[in-house]
Amino acid sequence: MNIHKKSKRISQCSFEGGIRDIFEAALKLQSEGKEIFHLEIGEPDFDSPIEARQACIEAINSSRTHYTSMNGIPELRKAIVDHEAKRGVLLDPENIVVTCGAEEALMALLLGLLDQGDEVILITPCYVAYKEQCYFAGVVPVEVPADLGEYYGLNIDRISAAVTEKTKMIMINSPNNPSGCVVNRSDMEKLVDFIKGKDIWLLTDECYSAIIYDEEHVSSLKYPQVSDQVLYVNSVSKTFAMTGWRIGYASMPPQVVPCIAKSHLMLTSCAPSFSQYGAAEAFRKSSDYTSLICGEFKKRRDVVVSALRQCPGADFPSPKGAFYVLPSIERLGTTPLEFAIGLMNKFGVAVTPGDAFGIKNRVRIAYTIDIKKIKRAMELFVVYYNECLAKTGR
Ligand SMILES: Cc1ncc(COP(=O)(O)O)c(C=O)c1O
Repeated sequence: MNIHKKSKRISQCSFEGGIRDIFEAALKLQSEGKEIFHLEIGEPDFDSPIEARQACIEAINSSRTHYTSMNGIPELRKAIVDHEAKRGVLLDPENIVVTCGAEEALMALLLGLLDQGDEVILITPCYVAYKEQCYFAGVVPVEVPADLGEYYGLNIDRISAAVTEKTKMIMINSPNNPSGCVVNRSDMEKLVDFIKGKDIWLLTDECYSAIIYDEEHVSSLKYPQVSDQVLYVNSVSKTFAMTGWRIGYASMPPQVVPCIAKSHLMLTSCAPSFSQYGAAEAFRKSSDYTSLICGEFKKRRDVVVSALRQCPGADFPSPKGAFYVLPSIERLGTTPLEFAIGLMNKFGVAVTPGDAFGIKNRVRIAYTIDIKKIKRAMELFVVYYNECLAKTGR
């Protein structure tokens, strides 16, 4: 037996694109005493809401610490339904499976519905895990670039050209990680028309639906003509700054609930019991907290955007939500990884190379630290960017 042999499945999951290099370089510099501005971290820096924390402690103290119903405790599923209804999204608690974060919901859907060799269209740039999860599930990711600009444009011609008889799913994410862009109504309608009646699932990841500025959130759940094809994923991670609680959920057409419940059972049995009680309370009581977080993110977004305007050529698709901006570094004649490493070594500012998200010549800035630090980090970014630009002689 070769004790060093890895499965083919895990070998394909390479997490390429430099995320690990950046993270490790940041930790090393930090351990040497250098101040690091962490603009690479994709999670809210705010505390989880007090109501959730109290409800979780109360659940632990009253011994609600055992396995729960596989699909999630009824009070949490009801709280999710009531919360979603406030934005006009109508769900049925019977069609919801509560999972360990959106991450598990995505995996449970891929594993439960697709077979080896099936193709999944990923609109890029997209969340790093999508491609790796496809490999892990034995399905083939097919990348189709979005048109980035004022919106996260779904190019139906390109999507249509990528569809083969093996295509079983299209995955979309709005507001988008890593661009902060959103899908607009017209593109969503075109996509809905395109998939209607085809044997293709539309998986919509709306993890950032609560963090959106001055723009309506267009959800594929609002189109009844494709309701039997839409799989919906969300979580408390970004909505309530509860990443560590590991509570997500998937809503799906009723006929696939038993299958996804089984898939979820194989993966984790159930989501953590006390986290479920805490999350239920967050859904019931913490919408004001979400609005507060959203307001803070918007101020930070404005700081990043105004700094980037001092970087000639650093164009970025319009960040209307989530907490990311994706500027171009194309004019600098360097790779995103070289740029990110150089910026970190010189000024301690950590950003993520866009390659990890399936896009070339861009870096992702996550505004997930205190606004004062963002101001300072972006001043340094501007200096470094312009130094690199000067070296090119352009
Ligand atoms: C687009 C997207 N989907 C899903 C996830 C996973 O979220 P969760 O913490 O709920 O597993 C993330 C996390 O960053 C994300 O950015």
